[in-house]
Amino acid sequence: MKVLVTGGLGFIGSHTVVELQNEGFEVVVVDNLSNSSKDVLKGIEAITGKQPIFEEFDLRDKQKIQDFFKKYDDVTGVIHFAASKAVGESVENPLLYYENNIGVLTYILQQLEKKGGASFIFSSSCTVYGQADALPITEDAPVKPAESPYGNTKQVGEEIIRDTCKVNSDLKAIALRYFNPIGAHPSGKIGELPLGVPQNLVPFVTQTAIGLREQLLVFGNDYPTVDGTGIRDYIHVVDLAKAHVKALQRLLDDKNESNYEVFNLGTGKGSSVLEVIQSFERVSGEKLNYKIVDRRAGDVIAAYADTQKANEVLGWKAKSTLDEALKSAWEWEKNVRA
Ligand code: UFG
Repeated sequence: MKVLVTGGLGFIGSHTVVELQNEGFEVVVVDNLSNSSKDVLKGIEAITGKQPIFEEFDLRDKQKIQDFFKKYDDVTGVIHFAASKAVGESVENPLLYYENNIGVLTYILQQLEKKGGASFIFSSSCTVYGQADALPITEDAPVKPAESPYGNTKQVGEEIIRDTCKVNSDLKAIALRYFNPIGAHPSGKIGELPLGVPQNLVPFVTQTAIGLREQLLVFGNDYPTVDGTGIRDYIHVVDLAKAHVKALQRLLDDKNESNYEVFNLGTGKGSSVLEVIQSFERVSGEKLNYKIVDRRAGDVIAAYADTQKANEVLGWKAKSTLDEALKSAWEWEKNVRA
């Protein structure tokens, strides 16, 4: 079974390629290396004994996508990770985000329509819920107006797929709404490699502990939460990767209840920023230099998943604890800087 993984050398993509290969899928990765490196192929090979087929090109080139599907006409599943993901950058340069995240999505769907159908997995985000009215967040929770062009691309992306599936019964799709992916492969061979200064909490924590950053800024301690800091649902990237294989298999086996489905992917457990820091200090034995500063614009107070649908319908459950995920992130950081 041949599967296209766009953005397959990125953080979540590379971990998913590993899980797909472990399950016997033949993987073709398309990546433009804009936020990743060819070395990731070696990391994947070190873990699975095999490199995926690799095609380096930019998916904004519609002709190249057409050529790709001519060359690989036996691709039956697509997992689409390739996208831009920095909230701040999306505010500065919205058209880049609409082109990368929406333009490319429509090009790929057009090719799948032309093929006469396929199974399609989309990387969505819990950001579509904004500050949800009720916690934990179920898939039925209303989608709230997006806080950023990035967030909007996830909402619009889901709508484009839903509308396309409505009129193409051969096209089957699942949107996976990720909560906060963290950690790295336990082998230490692949992990997160953010460009420049990390925007997300965990890479900032590990880079501070290793000495690349002076100090972690904790954005606000006056939220209505256990200790005043923001609450998120941090999920180990390997658990997340396994959910993609489950979702793809569900579509390939025709187990889906409708040809467009949505699942939350989280652990179901919320952790505060201070709890993340304490857990990190515990598993790493390092003391973290941090200080409390003002809230960050656009941050929600708390978000964690209701995991019942993913558990019961998808047959998937996150296994790793916060400690395990942070330990793997720390091992990876030490490996990368060694
Ligand atoms: N935080 C800090 N200091 C930092 C970075 C983050 O205190 O240097 C805090 C945040 O305020 C938040 C928590 O750590 O309470 C998690 O922040 P992240 O930036 O790691 O993750 P977010 O929950 O903000 O990001 C998620 C998704 C994005 C999505 C975004 C929308 O990962 O894809 O929500 O707000 F765009």
